[in-house]
Amino acid sequence: MDPVRDTYGRPLRSLRISVTDRCNLRCEYCMPQEDYVWLERSALLSFEEITELATIFASAGVEKLRLTGGEPLLRRNLDRLVLLLAQVPGIRDLALTTNGLQLAQHAAAFRQAGLQRVTVSLDTLRPERFTALTRRTGHQRVLEGIAAAQAADFASVKINAVIMRGFNHDELADLVEFGRAHRAEVRFIEYMDVGGATRWSSAQVFSAAEMLRILAERYGPITPLAPHDSAAPAERYRLPDGVTFGIISSTTRPFCGSCDRARITADGMFFRCLYAHDGTDLKRLLRAQVAPDEILATLRRLWADRADRGAEDRLALKSRAPLFRVEDLKANPHHEMHTRGG
Ligand code: GTP
Ligand code: 5AD
Ligand code: SF4
Repeated sequence: MDPVRDTYGRPLRSLRISVTDRCNLRCEYCMPQEDYVWLERSALLSFEEITELATIFASAGVEKLRLTGGEPLLRRNLDRLVLLLAQVPGIRDLALTTNGLQLAQHAAAFRQAGLQRVTVSLDTLRPERFTALTRRTGHQRVLEGIAAAQAADFASVKINAVIMRGFNHDELADLVEFGRAHRAEVRFIEYMDVGGATRWSSAQVFSAAEMLRILAERYGPITPLAPHDSAAPAERYRLPDGVTFGIISSTTRPFCGSCDRARITADGMFFRCLYAHDGTDLKRLLRAQVAPDEILATLRRLWADRADRGAEDRLALKSRAPLFRVEDLKANPHHEMHTRGG
């Protein structure tokens, strides 16, 4: 499938699908408030509607789908959606990003339904830090979720760790060792000033360069690797002993130049960038019975007009504060990271 290309020649290849805006954790870097303005349940796309949209996106060039949230496993019977999406023509990669809390119960069913890859967020190996960061308990359940994902034999299981200075930057090597022991590639993520991160400050960003320096001091020379996928946000590296890991440096070295990602929220808003101010309401088109070909034409036009480089625009700012204030997010929850699908 020839993908549609945007104003910078970037193809539309990948779609992140948020299936719910709710989450059972309250991570400091994503949902620091206790309470949020939630999407109406009646506004959520049904699994059939999501599949219909995924099919249209696939006709525009999308080959990779990733289910996100909020926490996607809070959506009941998610394995039924996996089964539907696995059958969409043109999709060669179907993945899930989860906080892992409920993964142990569902990993085998997801695998059976056709899910290929799983990424689990695990920012710390210390249960007390987990509780402080997420304001919930459940560290052990996340570890059990990772073990269950390994047992279910996915094509890959990855770990995402957001690194915040003064919180977990002393755990880089421990997380590398965890990845080694569990055959999971760890990806260290710079703390991003996305919507939702209302307590972000540049002082808390632990940069990719610093991460590499610390790991090289501990392990010796680190070799950069060619990416599996040139549009992937993670840069991959190998330690002298062969272990590989990734760094997602959205804050200090953004990768907008190769970004092939579209995203839809659980209520069917299409965003062309994680940082985009406005989106397009695709649910309205679906529910007004607009013909799939017409929706496809709209999508192609929107992508062809795309000029977003959100993370690069942020980097170019002289002084950086959080992207949104709590009041702005309350007024427009579509700007929240947990609504946009991370
Ligand atoms: P792979 O297909 O395994 O490469 O997945 P992924 O790394 O794209 O997905 P994942 O959900 O694991 O995202 C990892 C991190 O990258 C998260 O912190 C996201 O917020 C960040 N990220 C994902 N998509 C985007 C994006 O479009 N722009 C930016 N700037 N960051 C993103
Ligand atoms: N900075 C970096 N990563 C973030 N995530 C959520 N909020 C932020 C932030 N402010 C990550 C989660 C998850 C992924 C989908 O997005 O940890 O791994
Ligand atoms: Fe893509 Fe926007 Fe993220 Fe840049 S900030 S990588 S353009 S989604």
